[in-house]
Order: sequence, then structure tokens, then C-alpha cells
Amino acid sequence: MLGFTFENLDIKNLTQDQFIAIRKAVPLHGVVVIKNQNLCEEDLIAFTHKFGTPVLLPEALRFNNTKREHPELARVSNILPDGTLLKDHTAAEYWHSDGDFWQPGQNYIFNVLYSLIVPKVGGDTGFVDLELAYNSLSEDLKKKIENLEITVSCDEIPDFKDIKPEDRQPDALHRIKHEHIETKKIGLYLGHLFAKLNDLAPAESDTIMGQLTQAIENPANQYVHKWSVGDVLIWDNTAVMHRGMGGYQNFKRLLFRTQAFIEPMK
Ligand SMILES: [Fe+2]
Repeated sequence: MLGFTFENLDIKNLTQDQFIAIRKAVPLHGVVVIKNQNLCEEDLIAFTHKFGTPVLLPEALRFNNTKREHPELARVSNILPDGTLLKDHTAAEYWHSDGDFWQPGQNYIFNVLYSLIVPKVGGDTGFVDLELAYNSLSEDLKKKIENLEITVSCDEIPDFKDIKPEDRQPDALHRIKHEHIETKKIGLYLGHLFAKLNDLAPAESDTIMGQLTQAIENPANQYVHKWSVGDVLIWDNTAVMHRGMGGYQNFKRLLFRTQAFIEPMK
């Protein structure tokens, strides 16, 4: 089942059992929400370290985080650190998995988002359950994609447009019928929906990606999170795809984001 909410937890003071319950819930439910948190940047970073080694992205991917002492943190916002509002800002408003440019196995990454300013309208974050999406395919389509692969290149990812050449990662090859490294559930893994399927003629690749896109875009396979201030939301990038749903016009929006490489639990 996509999405699980914990109430009455303080992530600054978790018992080991409480942390294990959160950790186990993330790949099982894809998305976990913990309500009513009150955190500083260091609290969020400390919480992220509990899951695994934080992902340190090149500076161009930290989205205006100017604090060099917090390389783990990115600001997801239309407000610059000096308070300037970025007019008509859009970000990540397309279905994707963060970390799809890492090699298989290295791409088992959890994201943590902490909400500080919620716009009056819009600004939701959408998630699609990749197991549900796979199960919704016809048997014929499941057979067709059984051994298909995508190659993810940093050159195709919009967020990479400003990074230095030395920060580009080698291309990553992923099977699109994906066995989750921990839960062993079968789901789709597409990286992003403009990926080309390897070893197919462009027209056939487009046809199959079109059919897979329908499964991703089907609201029956999705959960759309409406943010409240103080929400901490954790997701598994190999169990769900996500996107910004936009529509916040020029209302202020601020979330902090961290990511961690995850070791599968036994
Ligand atoms: Fe993302």
C-alpha cells in the first residue's frame, strides 16, 4: 500500500524500535510521512545519517544551499537564501526517480523532505507506486518489457544542465522490470519518462514508453501529498517515482531535502 503516516513521534528523540519501524516502512509503503516535526538543519541531517551515508551532490544540484557546512542539504524553494522570490519558479514537475544516474544497487536512495513554508495553493508532491504500476500492465506488455533496459545519461537530466563536466556520472544501465533490492517486490524502474528503451527502434521504444507512461500517470497508482508545515516525508526512489505538482503561482514554498544511500536490511 502506497503511503504510511506516523503521528506522535519526535524524530529528534527516537527510540531504536521507533527508528526501525520507520526504516522498515519506507520500502514497504514507498512513502512515509511523519507529522508535526520542529527541526533545525542539523536535526534533519542527523536523522538522515541514521538511514545511511548521505548523498553529497555537486554544488549545482544543491539548489541554492549556500551553507558549506551542510553539503548534505538542498533547498527546494522559490525563495533564494537572501529572501528574493523567484517568479514563476518550477522545479522537477515531471515524473522521475532521484539517483537514476547511479549504477544499479547504488541507486537505492531514500529522500527526506522537511516542510517549512507551505504555499496557499498548489505545491503538492506526487508519488506513483511502481509495483502497482507494473501490476496494472497487460500480460502482453509485461512479456514485452521482460528484458528491456534503459540507459540513463546525465546529459538527459534537466537538473544536470549547469554542473561541471567532472561531476557527470558514467551512463547507468537499468532493467525496467525491477526487483526491489530489499522487499524483492517486482516493479517498474524507468528513471524518467523521456528515457529511450535500449535495442529498440525509436518508434517501438516510443510506443512502449507511451504505454508505460499511462500506467505511471494513472491516478489509481498514485498518492499526492498535500504539505503541512512540519511534515517530514521519506520516500524510496526504487519503489516510487515522484514529481512536483506545481501550481503554487508565486506563493512562497520552502522545503529542505536530504538523501541517503541505503543498505538493504536483512
Ligand atoms: Fe526529484
